[in-house]
Amino acid sequence: MSRCKLIAGNWKMNQTASQAGTLIQALKAEFPACNSCCSQGPDVLVFPPFTSIAAVLQEAGTCLQVGAQNVHWASSGAYTGEISTAMLKELGVSYVLIGHSERRQYFGESDETVNRRLHAALKAGLKAVVCIGETEQERQLGLTNCVLEHQLRWGLNQVSATDMQQVVIAYEPVWAIGTGKTASNADAQAAHAFIRSLLGTLYGQSCAEAVRILYGGSMNAGNAAGLLAQPDIDGGLIGGASLKPADFASIIRAAKQ
Ligand code: 13P
Repeated sequence: MSRCKLIAGNWKMNQTASQAGTLIQALKAEFPACNSCCSQGPDVLVFPPFTSIAAVLQEAGTCLQVGAQNVHWASSGAYTGEISTAMLKELGVSYVLIGHSERRQYFGESDETVNRRLHAALKAGLKAVVCIGETEQERQLGLTNCVLEHQLRWGLNQVSATDMQQVVIAYEPVWAIGTGKTASNADAQAAHAFIRSLLGTLYGQSCAEAVRILYGGSMNAGNAAGLLAQPDIDGGLIGGASLKPADFASIIRAAKQ
C-alpha cells in the first residue's frame, strides 16, 4: 500500500519566535507550496519550541503543519514546566512529539510516561510522533530489536488499532542523532521492517501497513534520497538539517521522488 511520506523537522531548543518566523519565510521561499497531501508530495511538519509555535503558525499558514515537542498527561495542575493538550490545541497545534531520546536521556522519560503522554494526546485529538531507538552499546550487543520491541510494546500499551491511525512511529537510533553518523539504508530498512512486523503482531496487517514510520538520525540533503527510497521508510524526523532552509527543502524534494 502507498503511504503518504512525512517530512518532519525537530527544531529542539533552537529558534526564538522572531528567528522562527524568519526561518519559515526562508523555507517558503525555497518551497512555496510545501504541504500537499499525497499525490503531489510529502506532508511537511515542524516541531518548534513552545514559545515559537504561534509565530510559526502565523507565518506558515497552510504551508506546513505544526507540532509541539512534548505534552503532559494531566489536563492541568501543579506540573511546573510542563504543557497541556488544551494549551497546545488552543494554539492550533496538530501533532505532538513524544519520547524523543533526548527526553529519555536527560529528563527521565520512560516507556510508562511516553504511554501516558500518548494517551492524553490521542484523547485530546492530537496526532503523535512516538520516538524509539537503540543506543550504540545496545546495537553492538545485538539488542536492537529487543529494545525496539520493548519501547514499542510499552509505549503503545492499551492504544487501539483505531487510535493508531493518529500515530506515527519515528525510528531514531540514538547513536545517529546529531553525530553525523547515519544508519545505512539497509540497516535502517531492517529496523523499519522489524517495527512494521511488530505492529502487525500487535494490530494486524492492515493497520501495520498504514502506519507511517519515519527515520531520524543525521538525515540530510545528501543521504535523504537513499533512505527515503527504502520500502518501509515513510519519511524523516530531521534535527540539524531542518534548521537550514535549503537543506530541509532538498529533503522535502527527495521525498517527492
Ligand atoms: P539530527 O538530524 O540532528 O541527527 O537529529 C535527529 C533528531 O533527533 C530528530 O528528532
